Amino acid sequence: MALSGASSTACVSRRTLGSSLQPKSTQSNISAMITMASTLPATPSTPVHKKPFRPAHEVEGQITHSMPAHKMEIFKSLENWAEQSLLTLLKPVESSWQPQDFLPDPASSEFYEQTEELRKRAMEIPDEYYVCLVGDMITEEALPTYQTMLNTFDGVRDETGASLSPWAIWTRAWTAEENRHGDLLKQYLYLSGRVDMRQIEKTIQYLIGCGMYIKTENSPFMGFIYTSFQERATFISHSNTARHAKRHGDLKLAQICGTIAADEKRHEAAYTKIVEKLFELDPDSAVIAFADMMRKKIVMPAHLMFDGRDRGLFDHFSAVAQRLGVYSAGDYADILEFLVGRWKVESLAGLSEEGNKARDFVCCLGQRYRKLEERARGRRETREKRRVRFSWIFDREVLV
Ligand SMILES: [Fe+2]
Ligand SMILES: [Fe+2]
Repeated sequence: MALSGASSTACVSRRTLGSSLQPKSTQSNISAMITMASTLPATPSTPVHKKPFRPAHEVEGQITHSMPAHKMEIFKSLENWAEQSLLTLLKPVESSWQPQDFLPDPASSEFYEQTEELRKRAMEIPDEYYVCLVGDMITEEALPTYQTMLNTFDGVRDETGASLSPWAIWTRAWTAEENRHGDLLKQYLYLSGRVDMRQIEKTIQYLIGCGMYIKTENSPFMGFIYTSFQERATFISHSNTARHAKRHGDLKLAQICGTIAADEKRHEAAYTKIVEKLFELDPDSAVIAFADMMRKKIVMPAHLMFDGRDRGLFDHFSAVAQRLGVYSAGDYADILEFLVGRWKVESLAGLSEEGNKARDFVCCLGQRYRKLEERARGRRETREKRRVRFSWIFDREVLV
């Protein structure tokens, strides 16, 4: 349909060039064709939308470069430490798993049989589980945004794209490890036949075009607190999708999600180690950054997701994840409390007045979240459940 539109339009413009040489009846035919062509659908070769491209969601009031420039020296001074303590947490490529290790081998004569088995297992899994798995996969697939985000941090960014600073080596290798997560989940979902791949691909394109705004203000203090939180959040979420896959009898999918979760755990260890070091060298800045990030709330990486239809897509996906126990408000409080303990925030001494306030704020926050969550749970239980359509599963409805 679209192709025929393109060829008709091209044909019209060629003929229009020689219109004065045509007999009158032919000219009126041409006019009719021009009218017809203007009503044909737009195609890539005939752009009709003159508006500049805009992201599907836009964020106002963004703050940049709030960290004083002299603080960058801390990260320069940590380069040897990063080489010894951070880069040693990366796995060599040769001993790393690859998506192909968990998927039917297209070069094997058993490919069709293995794919058939995968699809049979996939039939046993409910739609609501797929909504969670797709949301997790889309989050992983927006990886270009996360590498961009890491390279916004002052003092640790990859200055050339191939920089040999240990911070830059870490960021590229971390990205390369993470890249396998989205690849594996996407290929699994493609083979499962359970989801609308085109809608999913559109959501990924929209999401990468939107980016994300996580309020880290180019500060590696805030940035590494965010990544510590997020790696633990993804560890929890993938561990839970593994647990549910096992419950639904798909041990291979459980293995896929569990393997990804193990990577997230190793990444969490790396990022929490960086922040631990920052607490040691500059506890005041570290605890103030921690409190600041928690006051602003940790937003999820895919918070700007859109599928071209549902403006509340992220909230709907989050509500399903909450209901199924894949990732919940309780997990958010758990992560906060875990990090407070991991960085021994309660025992920080010798802080400035602002630092003391920040410490007291984060140490009491877990309790406060739990009370709020208890009330919210009460409201959720009494509220009537709604059904929401998800384009990712061919517009079928899921309870939220
Ligand atoms: Fe990941
Ligand atoms: Fe991760």
